[in-house]
Amino acid sequence: MSDLEQLKSDALTQIEAAGDADALEAVRVAFLGKQGSISVLLKTLGKMTPEERQTQGPAIQGLRAAVADAIADKKTTLENAELDARLATEKLDLTLPAPDSPQGSIHPVSQVMDELAEIFADLGFAVATGPEIEDDWHNFTALNMAETHPARAMHDTFYFPDVDADGRRMLLRTHTSPVQIRAMQAQGAPIRIIAPGRVYRSDSDATHTPMFHQVEGLVIDKGIHLGHLKWTLETFFKAFFEREDITLRLRPSYFPFTEPSVEVDVGYSNEGDRRVVGGHGDEPGYDWMELGGSGMVNARVLEFAGIDPDEYQGFAFGLGIDRIAMLKYGMNDLRAFFDGDPRWLRHYGFSPFDQPTLSAGVGAKA
Ligand code: DAH
Repeated sequence: MSDLEQLKSDALTQIEAAGDADALEAVRVAFLGKQGSISVLLKTLGKMTPEERQTQGPAIQGLRAAVADAIADKKTTLENAELDARLATEKLDLTLPAPDSPQGSIHPVSQVMDELAEIFADLGFAVATGPEIEDDWHNFTALNMAETHPARAMHDTFYFPDVDADGRRMLLRTHTSPVQIRAMQAQGAPIRIIAPGRVYRSDSDATHTPMFHQVEGLVIDKGIHLGHLKWTLETFFKAFFEREDITLRLRPSYFPFTEPSVEVDVGYSNEGDRRVVGGHGDEPGYDWMELGGSGMVNARVLEFAGIDPDEYQGFAFGLGIDRIAMLKYGMNDLRAFFDGDPRWLRHYGFSPFDQPTLSAGVGAKA
């Protein structure tokens, strides 16, 4: 056997024997690397006579090509084998049965938001959203709270250090009311929306968390008055708490963005250590509990949002979602809502199959 044939047979044997990518790479370096035996042979071509080169050149080049091809083939074979091995070990049997007990549960806040959407959808309301990172124009100014308005200070606002391109201060929205402005600007009148979502205030104790949930309501149309507001809230609370004996009291109040403004109280009684909604708050054994704020949208707010207050008017309301969730489902510590404790979720959470629907009932049982 000539030296070249010997070299070729050595190379092919070693390539065949390489068990993995590293071993194969070592063989490649040994033969075709900078100091590899075939590379060294190629360099000798330069010192040969032209006649020698004519026979030796093609022979050495042929050897190099044959070895390179064998290495490439072996590489493909090794990769295929590796893929087969992975497919075999990572096999997933999709026919396995689901676990005996359901693993996740729906958080009461999500459940109540779904209930709200379902009830208000039946009354013709769409769900609107807005950003949680807001600017102070939407969160305050357009809601009739000028820079110097004392209500701004009452909101315990989390501000960002930045201002936006229009020089507006950025903040975490302190209420869902800015969605009113965005909805009016985006769609004009008439409007019927609710806007559930997260809001933020720098406030923390047993009944306040820095993040909590509100639902905003907004109706804009011709000839809207306080009677529409009271009927809408009453109809909502009856459907939400699933009882007919809901009595609301609208108590005069003040919000910059409504005129007149009212606070919404509901009659309730105590059953053990639990407050149960229902009944007339002035009757013996009953009392009033505040559920939220509302009123007729201030004409200045309509103007800020580009709606003509001589043609359109409307009402708005804002309710604390966490609060009505606690009332309906009997939790008494707000902070536990956001602890992420799986035991709490297992106890108070809802089955994903318990979709609230008006026909089947919006009062899913935990
Ligand atoms: N945005 C108010 C708050 O967070 C709640 C509120 C009051 C909303 C009256 C309204 C309203 O839409 O009309 O304290």
